[in-house]
Amino acid sequence: MSDRWYSEAVIYCLDIDTFADSDGDGVGDIQGLISRLDYLAGLGITCLWLQPIHPSPNRDDGYDATDFYNVDPRFGTLGDFAELLHQANNRGIRVIIDLVVNHTSDQHPWFQSARSSPDSPYRDWYVWSDQQPADRHQGMVFPGEQNETWTYDRTAKSWFYHRFYKFQPDLNFGNPAVRDEIKKIVSFWIQLGVSGFRIDAAPFIIEMTEPGNANSPKDFAFLTELRQHVQWRSGDAVLLAEANVEPDELQKYFGDSGGSANRLHMLFDFMLNGRLMLALARRDPEPVIEALRETPALPSGAQWATFLRNHDEIDLSRLTADQRQDVFREFGPDEDMQLYGRGIRRRLAPMLGNDRRRIELAYSLQFSLRGTPVLRYGEEIGMGEDLSLPGRESIRTPMQWSMKPNAGFSEADAGKLIRPVVEGGDFGYERVNVTLQRQDPGSLLSWFERMTRALREAPEIGSGTCTPIDQVLPPGVLAHRADGPTGTMVFLHNLSTKHATVDLGSLYEEADLPNDMLSDRPYNPVGKLDALELAGQGYRWIRLCRSYAGAGPAGRPV
Ligand code: GLC
Repeated sequence: MSDRWYSEAVIYCLDIDTFADSDGDGVGDIQGLISRLDYLAGLGITCLWLQPIHPSPNRDDGYDATDFYNVDPRFGTLGDFAELLHQANNRGIRVIIDLVVNHTSDQHPWFQSARSSPDSPYRDWYVWSDQQPADRHQGMVFPGEQNETWTYDRTAKSWFYHRFYKFQPDLNFGNPAVRDEIKKIVSFWIQLGVSGFRIDAAPFIIEMTEPGNANSPKDFAFLTELRQHVQWRSGDAVLLAEANVEPDELQKYFGDSGGSANRLHMLFDFMLNGRLMLALARRDPEPVIEALRETPALPSGAQWATFLRNHDEIDLSRLTADQRQDVFREFGPDEDMQLYGRGIRRRLAPMLGNDRRRIELAYSLQFSLRGTPVLRYGEEIGMGEDLSLPGRESIRTPMQWSMKPNAGFSEADAGKLIRPVVEGGDFGYERVNVTLQRQDPGSLLSWFERMTRALREAPEIGSGTCTPIDQVLPPGVLAHRADGPTGTMVFLHNLSTKHATVDLGSLYEEADLPNDMLSDRPYNPVGKLDALELAGQGYRWIRLCRSYAGAGPAGRPV
């Protein structure tokens, strides 16, 4: 097994405000989350990623902080947070938090001071231009909701830069004082006991913005600096970053040209995410095989984080127009399901027509491919979205715990909830909730528990190599293998709806007593691997061989 805990982790992502409300004010809180830690432990989660926890006017769901050294009072106090870390630790669960430092809220005291006078000590903490920058209408992240990246501030009598909404002024990372402050923030949370950070908008943090230049240079050295700093403070803290960039740029985020992994430990695999969606839409594994082949070789210790759904729209911008149309047609045909012209604002279960076999297939694929899987709250019970809510809020509805009012999320009056719970229909809390599924061994939740258990018994998935098996296979079938110091796993996924028989007999000589670890239904024993049955939309996780410490030269147990 790997020394690097994050290689073999199962990460669960949630927003405290929609998870569990302990005090009946309609907003989820830290004590509510603490009361659900046993649920998460039972699900096999080993790491929680908490979305922004800081005080915030909440105009971008907390991604607009006003104080990086505190928790949102609606969630509790720093004391509650320390208790959360303690209780999570007792259950073997690590906690990482969102580090959103590309920008602050415009209500942050730093910005308020900066705009008030050119002499403010915080003036240079932000990015200003006295003239109207020529690239003012370029580089928007939220087209339709955002018209510009430079906005004139009357108080400051100057233009300020904001990669995202105009209430999120960008910090100036060219200023050493800002870099020092970020290190201080990181140190503070490490000292409290977090195991790392999900770095929001990494490519923009390192952008050395020049007014008028829509392609301003990037200073990757800051990532090296930050990594060094973090590792001095805590040897095993992890930096997991959001960097949805061109494939040939990716390596620079992991490490410098010297070839060592001295920057970010992990990146979300946006490329694979888009290709997985395409493969599922076309019922054809080719896009996944391509993604695996095109993945740049990573320096040792660097790791991908895989995901199907996150808290934003599914971003299909790296697919070609034709490919994107195929995904839209299959998974988000109505205009209202689409966002920013590039994405889909739905959860996975409704996208897949609530077809249980297809949902299992999709998650089995994600969890068996290389990297560390990240699961978003509610996906384990197959929650749906609420398209009547604006933009990305559609997929940010409260967790559905039970059939009680408000889905057991809160005892507040329904009108006081942070967001309405999904009611009625196939995805309403009356049908889709933890309590019902916990009692049903055939539920999606029970399946997730079995699947994460199989994953944790197969550390080669996270720590080993992942290779598509290069041989002629029935149409729609993907075969891949994971090889690591603990042994070899082989996986079959049938993206088509037709039954298939797969011959992997050539692998039999590598095998010691191969057996199924997880499958969509019981199959005949794997035998000599030369006639493996695979139902339409079926999958099989087969352990080919296991290596033991002290194994002989052929890797067989001695
Ligand atoms: C990231 C987050 C997104 C947020 C944005 C601005 O892209 O994932 O939710 O709106 O950063 O902070």
